[in-house]
Amino acid sequence: MLVRILGSAAGGGFPQWNCNCPGCQSVREGKNTVHQRTQSSLAVRGTEGSWYLINASPDVRQQLERLRDTVPTSIRSNPIAGVLLTDAEIDHTAGLMILRESAEPLAIYGTNSVRKALTDGFSILRVLKDYCGVVWSNIEPGSTVDLNSDDSSSLEIEVFSLKSKPPKYMRSDVRGDGNHHNSVVGFTFRDRISGGVVTYAPALSELSDSILERLDKSDCILVDGTFWQNDELVKLGMSTRTSEAMGHLPLSGDNGSLNHLAKLSSKRKIFTHINNSNPILVANSAERKIVEAAGVEVGDDGLTIEF
Ligand code: MLT
Ligand code: MN
Ligand code: ZN
Repeated sequence: MLVRILGSAAGGGFPQWNCNCPGCQSVREGKNTVHQRTQSSLAVRGTEGSWYLINASPDVRQQLERLRDTVPTSIRSNPIAGVLLTDAEIDHTAGLMILRESAEPLAIYGTNSVRKALTDGFSILRVLKDYCGVVWSNIEPGSTVDLNSDDSSSLEIEVFSLKSKPPKYMRSDVRGDGNHHNSVVGFTFRDRISGGVVTYAPALSELSDSILERLDKSDCILVDGTFWQNDELVKLGMSTRTSEAMGHLPLSGDNGSLNHLAKLSSKRKIFTHINNSNPILVANSAERKIVEAAGVEVGDDGLTIEF
């Protein structure tokens, strides 16, 4: 299979429009230790079959240009056979609006909790109904996604549950009944032809034994690299919310994700969904060196992996 990181930054991108943190400023100053990055998204394609988009970021229009070289050149051609959603966060779903020009109804796969958020909260599914239309497929943790049989993809996509963290706009004190079961999931992609196994979890709030075992059994993992420290945004004076409150396990610290990832036997371990405040985005930073010394890579837009 082919896996391509379309966007390696967290929500806001790098630089973020309203941010003057050291990293964002360095990008604007054209420093050679940093470069622009678009918001969190991934594309995956089996040895046979079409590309699937995993999460639709606000930058999806530019991101899909990165798949153009591999799709037919007929007058209208859709580079993707469907969109799979890990959650209903704005940075993972706002791009659905950009896809409204589709000539066919959009095939979207998500959990029931995500469908509810995109109907009652950020009501993009109601809007799309009157544009391209949507064919929604419910996916449930513990099962394998039923991909469109017209595509005859060699991919098997397994859904696994992650700790529930509803988007701000769906918090139980704001909206809804408080049942946010399966509001965040991850995916394990298996290719029936190559045998390759890749796991993607851009929003990871804990590393339970079962998640660690899943990651360890994957040839390649692409996981949440949002924050270096739990109080990163607080220290920079950008927010009062910690990394953990936002549903992201920080990288550093004894129980941080880096320590755990370093012990896994996966051939490639890659951080993605990296916030602009995270010093690992700066090429010569001490934090980048620590990550690389632990055998983990800092993901980048366009990075393509074959397994
Ligand atoms: C997240 O990754 O936690 C969300 O994208 C945060 C947000 O955009 O509000
Ligand atoms: Mn995000
Ligand atoms: Zn910034």
